[in-house]
Order: sequence, then structure tokens, then C-alpha cells
Amino acid sequence: MTIYEIIAKKRDGGELTPAEIRFFIDGYVKGTVADYQAAAWCMAVFCRGMTAGETAALTEAMVASGETLDLQGIAGTTVDKHSTGGVGDTTTLIVAPLVAAMGIPVAKLSGRGLGHTGGTLDKLESIAGFDVQMDQARFVAQVQAIGLAVAGQTAQLVPADRLLYALRDVTATVESVPLIAASIMSKKLAAGCQAIMLDVKVGHGAFMKSQAEAEELARAMVAIGEKLGRRTMALLTKMDQPLGNAVGNALEVEEAVAILENRTLYGRGRVSPDLREVSLALAARMAWLAGKAETVAQGRMMAEEALRSGAALAKWAALVESQGGTWLGGERLAESLPQAQENCRIGAPVDGWIGAIDGLAIGRAAASLGAGRVKKGDPVDSAVGIVLHKRIGDPVGAGECVVELWHNGRGVTEAQALVKGAYQWATGPVAKPPLILGEIR
Ligand code: URA
Ligand code: CA
Repeated sequence: MTIYEIIAKKRDGGELTPAEIRFFIDGYVKGTVADYQAAAWCMAVFCRGMTAGETAALTEAMVASGETLDLQGIAGTTVDKHSTGGVGDTTTLIVAPLVAAMGIPVAKLSGRGLGHTGGTLDKLESIAGFDVQMDQARFVAQVQAIGLAVAGQTAQLVPADRLLYALRDVTATVESVPLIAASIMSKKLAAGCQAIMLDVKVGHGAFMKSQAEAEELARAMVAIGEKLGRRTMALLTKMDQPLGNAVGNALEVEEAVAILENRTLYGRGRVSPDLREVSLALAARMAWLAGKAETVAQGRMMAEEALRSGAALAKWAALVESQGGTWLGGERLAESLPQAQENCRIGAPVDGWIGAIDGLAIGRAAASLGAGRVKKGDPVDSAVGIVLHKRIGDPVGAGECVVELWHNGRGVTEAQALVKGAYQWATGPVAKPPLILGEIR
């Protein structure tokens, strides 16, 4: 077997054997397969695709390239959750304590964002004292003690994905369904949970622009999970505007906690009903995947009850305390979360309805205030960001405040221009866009 033969076989539309796929991945990680050969292989896969069997074999070979987490010692069915990402997607901060409150162990490894705002770790680190670094023993012990832990994933988890992703990024081979599916699922499998809930975003501002593409990716990921022995399910959700009303690290924590408090209004405005709905939809299905609920409908009732009873909020407080943070809500919020010094309001230019909100532009506006990073290692200003006061379909009067920028003096002019350009105004009523498009199991 040579790498030349493997590349040529895929180029000509052949089906690679698991041994050939392992040969490629092992060789690339060890350095016996060169970057130019790996690039040719990725392009051949991009053009020819992969069968479900090849995609599962690729995922397994990638998992085997590094360490895996052993969660066997945790009682109950562990369920992981992954979102393909989007602006204002704070669902992990809500779903993790909510699901833990239903008695399902949550052992969550998260990443850092290289986008408009930070990732889950950056959001949690905006809380005074919160520590996301922990070794495996402490991680497992915390899940056993309080039912949940959220930690940073180490470089030893799926090294093949780090290498391949960097290569795909510069060789126009990112947008391949089998490569994306294997990349995401290898990290989920290595993270050790027994069941996996996926949230695949569709639309402007998401990886997959059409429902058909998103469905194809969702099916590929569910097939990998099931083939490799994990109960897996995917929700397809629409992302035509930021999911939450808050965009920015500490601001997103505030909105997430308001949802855990079962509130519709909080200090900065209205909670996004869409963020609440997607969180409940995911939590309901996770309860079903974990075998805690007999049906998704029953899981939904349990999730709503966990918000109403305060159980989800109590899990949040336990999580923060256990990871070294200080959670003081209400009047003392500023002692837990950094607050921006200044704010600036943007009003509607006309009477009418909100026709569209470009989530990417809102994300870029938050980044220009300092909420996100452009390069790995850039500092993030946790306090700054954007709060939407209106969503698509809401009526507005001329001059009424639609958006508030919370800032520390940096990037304000640029952010204002981006926000103003992000809105489209309609002169007649606009229907609220659909939120949940379907599920794949
Ligand atoms: N996210 C990933 O983790 N991998 C991909 O290939 C694409 C998106
Ligand atoms: Ca299934």
C-alpha cells in the first residue's frame, strides 16, 4: 500500500478500505505523508465524496490519532451537545445546567472561538474566577459530584483534525460533507459521551446555507454516530438572525442566566424567545436520548419544569462555584461579570417592521467593539457587545431604539455603520421566520 495508490484510487472514484484510510491518517499525523499528498487526498474526497462506511472509517482513524476521554466511571447516560455555530448562540450555557437538572450527567468539552465573539469557554471565563482548565480526574469527579462540568479540550484530542482542518482551510476543501462530518464527530466521539445531540444551523450566517445541504450534513453525522455505537440525533434550526438578543461574551452570559431564571425580561432588555425555544428543544431531545424521558414531548415538559422550579438555575450556581467562579446575580451582577463603561442606542430610521437582520454583520460589529478575536491568542474584551431590542417581524416606530451597543470606547463608529447596514425595513407586516425546520434520527 502506498499513499500514491490511495490518492489515485479516490481520484478515480473508488471506495477506500478502512485500512487504506488508517494508512493515510496515521501517515499524515506521523509525517510520512506529506502536506501536498494530504492536500491532493482532501481534494479527491471533496470531488468524489465518501460512502457512509468510508466516512465512519475516517472518523474512527481520526479518533485513534489522539487521546480519548474515559467517562465510564460516571453513572447514567452521558449526553453531549454540539452546534455547528452561529452568532449569539448561547445554547450550551443554558442546555448544560438544564439537562443536568433533569438528572442527566453533562461532561462537556468546549472550544474557544475564532470568530466574531468568543466560544463557550470565553463566555464562561468572563465570570470572575471561573476556571476551564482541569485534568481528566477532576473533570470526572466534578460530574460525579454535581452532575456537570464544562472544560477546555486539550491539544491531545484528535490531533489529526487540527492538522487536516488547517490544511483544508488553505486548499479550498473545507466545504465537503464527509470531511466536515468526520471532523465534528471525531471530536464528539473522543470526548467520550454515550449519546450525541447535534444542532445543525441552516441559513445566512451558518455553514450550510440551504436546508438540503444542512440535512445532508446532519444525516452524515447521525450515520457516523450510530455506526460507532452512540445514540445520535440532529435538529435542523434556522439562523437568519442572531439566535440570542445578546452578542458578546458577558452579555450572552447575562441573557443565558435570565433564561435559566425563567424570565422574559432582564436588566438589558427582552430575552430572545428563539434562544429559549432552541434550548428547550435540544434539552427535551437530550432527555429522550439519555433514556430519562420516554418521548421528546415528555422531555420537553421535564425541561420546562426544571426552568420553572429553579432546578436549572441551581445547577448553574453549582457549576460556577465548583469551577472557582463567583455568581452573584441581581444587584451584585457587576461583581460576577465585567460591565462595559458606555452604551449607545441606535433607533429605527422609519416607521415599519423589521424585515431582515444580517447576523454576520452584527457579529462583525461586536468584533469591532473587541468582543471577538481575529487571530488565535488575541485578547477579548468580555464586557462589550450588542443587544438587539427587536427581532424579525417586530413592528417599530421611527426613532424607537432597536439596538444598543455596550462598549469601552473602541471601534464604535465602525460598529454603528455595520449595525445600521445589517437591518432591512419593511413597510408592511413581516412573518416571523420558522425556527425549527426538522430533526434527523
Ligand atoms: N467545524 C468543524 O469542527 N470541522 C469542520 O470541518 C467544519 C466545521
Ligand atoms: Ca438514532
